[in-house]
Amino acid sequence: MRAILRHSARAIFVFLTLSGGTAFGAGNIDKGEAAFRQYCAQCHIPLPGDPLAAPKLDGVVGRPVAAVSDYRYSDAFLARKAEAMVWTEENLRDFIRGPREYIPGTVMQFVGIKRGSMRDDLIAYLKSLD
Ligand code: HEC
Repeated sequence: MRAILRHSARAIFVFLTLSGGTAFGAGNIDKGEAAFRQYCAQCHIPLPGDPLAAPKLDGVVGRPVAAVSDYRYSDAFLARKAEAMVWTEENLRDFIRGPREYIPGTVMQFVGIKRGSMRDDLIAYLKSLD
């Protein structure tokens, strides 16, 4: 009986570890790349002249908001830039969860990703682009 209990405790521990638990920044770059291709690339790796074009995200973690010089950001983004807001892992997590809730008035037409582990993966991938 005790052996079974010990075994299931270990199973729970492994499960928590694999699912990311509450650990921060434990994202997986490969999964993040797959999620980026699925949800972000159509805008953020735009073809020339694409009307949905979005700013490039290389180096975005640690970069000031609205820093791509030849990109025309929304007024909502320019206001954050004027406040000297900088992208961090923490605020990117919140932004990706609900862009239009986090920065009302943004023209990023994206509903957001609720799953925390997928947002961690995306941030790990974005960091790898630095
Ligand atoms: C439908 C097109 C579209 C999709 C899909 C999209 N974005 Fe965006 N994104 C934009 C646009 C447009 C902006 C500029 C927003 C503004 O000026 O209000 C932006 C801005 C950003 C910024 C801020 C860049 C900066 O220079 O300050 C980040 C970070 C970002 N997006 C991440 C993502 C991630 C991660 C995904 C996928 C989960 C994603 N976006 C999906 C269009 C999109």
